[in-house]
Amino acid sequence: MIYVIFYIKCQIYICCTLKQKQMKVSLKLLTLFTTLILFSCGGSDKKEESSYGKKAPIKTEKKEPASERIELSNKGVGPITSLDLGLVVDQDMAAHGKEIYGKMCTACHKADKKFIGPSPNGILERRSPEWVMNMILNPEQMVKEDPLAKDLLMEFNGAPMANQGLTKEDARAVLEYFRTLN
Ligand code: HEC
Repeated sequence: MIYVIFYIKCQIYICCTLKQKQMKVSLKLLTLFTTLILFSCGGSDKKEESSYGKKAPIKTEKKEPASERIELSNKGVGPITSLDLGLVVDQDMAAHGKEIYGKMCTACHKADKKFIGPSPNGILERRSPEWVMNMILNPEQMVKEDPLAKDLLMEFNGAPMANQGLTKEDARAVLEYFRTLN
């Protein structure tokens, strides 16, 4: 493009020296020509941009973290294979569960936020009751064999869920307490 403009300028120079009258006309032509070249360059730039965009669309989708994933049909691995929650929360059992939770779990879990482990808030909207029980009673096998527990372990930088040696009854009481957290 620079050569073209240079060439035109040279021509105009010659033109001007030969015929002073034609100077104005030549200048107008030069302006028109330069504008046309610039315009066409701009146009091709735009085309390149849009075709680039089509060829390589940038993926913005993010995989959601394991702690937020919803897996209600996964029962996990461990002693609990089926568990029916009552229709209404058993308040006495929940109170007992809260006590156990306060003693054995709050070193790593906080009800209102992610801590060393995930928050149990609304956990039954994401996990089956069996999975939660197996996670409490059998975490060692869970983080080895259950895909969701494995991903959780990764999300929490390899910090494992601790087996606190709860009995089935105590674990069930903690689960009942979890039902009161939303
Ligand atoms: C030493 C720390 C620690 C203690 C104590 C602990 N946990 Fe955990 N827990 C974790 C970590 C870390 C995770 C997530 C990573 C993993 O699963 O390995 C987790 C995960 C869980 C999960 C799965 C949560 C989810 O959103 O899927 C449940 C349920 C759970 N813990 C319940 C309990 C209960 C109940 C207790 C007390 C009896 C307890 N934990 C005590 C560290 C702990």
